[in-house]
Amino acid sequence: QNPELEALLQANEWSGKFYHFLLKNTEYGQQAMDYLKNRGIHERLIDQFDIGYAPARWDTLLQFLEKRSFDLAAMEKGGLLSAKNDGSGFVDRFRDRVIFPIHNRSGKVIAFAGRILGDGQPKYLNSPESKLFSKSRTLYNLHRSKNEIRKKRQVVIFEGFGDVISAWDAGVHNTVATMGTALTESHAAILKSLADEAIVCYDGDNAGQAAAMKSIPILEGAGFKVRIAMIGDGLDPDEYVRKYGGERFLHQIVEGAVSSVKFKLIYLRKNHILLEEAGKVAYIKEAMEVIAPLPSPTEREIYLKELSADLQVSFESLKQECNQYRQELQ
Ligand code: GTP
Ligand code: MN
Ligand code: MN
Ligand code: MN
Ligand code: MN
Repeated sequence: QNPELEALLQANEWSGKFYHFLLKNTEYGQQAMDYLKNRGIHERLIDQFDIGYAPARWDTLLQFLEKRSFDLAAMEKGGLLSAKNDGSGFVDRFRDRVIFPIHNRSGKVIAFAGRILGDGQPKYLNSPESKLFSKSRTLYNLHRSKNEIRKKRQVVIFEGFGDVISAWDAGVHNTVATMGTALTESHAAILKSLADEAIVCYDGDNAGQAAAMKSIPILEGAGFKVRIAMIGDGLDPDEYVRKYGGERFLHQIVEGAVSSVKFKLIYLRKNHILLEEAGKVAYIKEAMEVIAPLPSPTEREIYLKELSADLQVSFESLKQECNQYRQELQ
């Protein structure tokens, strides 16, 4: 209905196919093909995820769009081109990058992410926010995964493109990625229409674990039962699958995901030196803030028993302390 948006959607669709063609069928794409192969992203995955390559030139896409009579200023606004500094025209926005098309829920290409072929900054270059693309409302892979998510009533949430692609290869298809931004209430609301359980599977580094911690209240606030899939060694899910294989990823990491309460206790525990009395006391205080609000008495008992065994503090005293916290909550 909106001709400018329709034109941009059309341009995005054709550009995505063009980048995919350049990757697979031209000399330009050879290095990128090697890069992808080295990462374990084989040909079938390249096709399934419509992966492409933008050559290291200034006018490859520009000429492609010009020939098809697209309004170049509109293409700049939509993020396919960049304006030259002197205002004399346009150049390709994506150059010498592997291209991951980003689709909306119904499968239309609304943006692209371009990854550098190695080290360098920025690692990923995205399309800018536009009338079509809002990062805080977009979940990568949702158009491929929505039926599987609905069928399982469960969604696995990753940070990045590589994580989705590797998990897919391992047979885990009920997945989306937030593309590095913090999970928002909009993301959670979109997913809640499809699923009841969310498994957060973020990178094993500190940033990933902190982001997982922040995602819990947002997902629980939307009504999800939340579990956290934890990866040791600071690996991300993609690296884990490549190192240990898909079977182990599925059975140990995804199926072994812990409850949000358990994750919070593990996460908070790391900040304290438990060999020192003061450290124990401080950790117990934080643990009580997690355990005391739980409505189920048996659930509280289970976590308090674990805490008691872990810290060698009597269950009775922990229970007393917990009850004090509960009184303060009322
Ligand atoms: P790989 O190195 O390709 O495996 O990337 P990654 O997905 O493991 O990257 P990382 O864990 O650092 O970041 C997770 C996600 O955040 C990425 O998949 C991107 O969506 C996003 N991201 C990472 N780096 C950048 C960046 O430099 N710019 C932007 N806009 N997004 C980024
Ligand atoms: Mn193909
Ligand atoms: Mn990665
Ligand atoms: Mn990271
Ligand atoms: Mn990562």
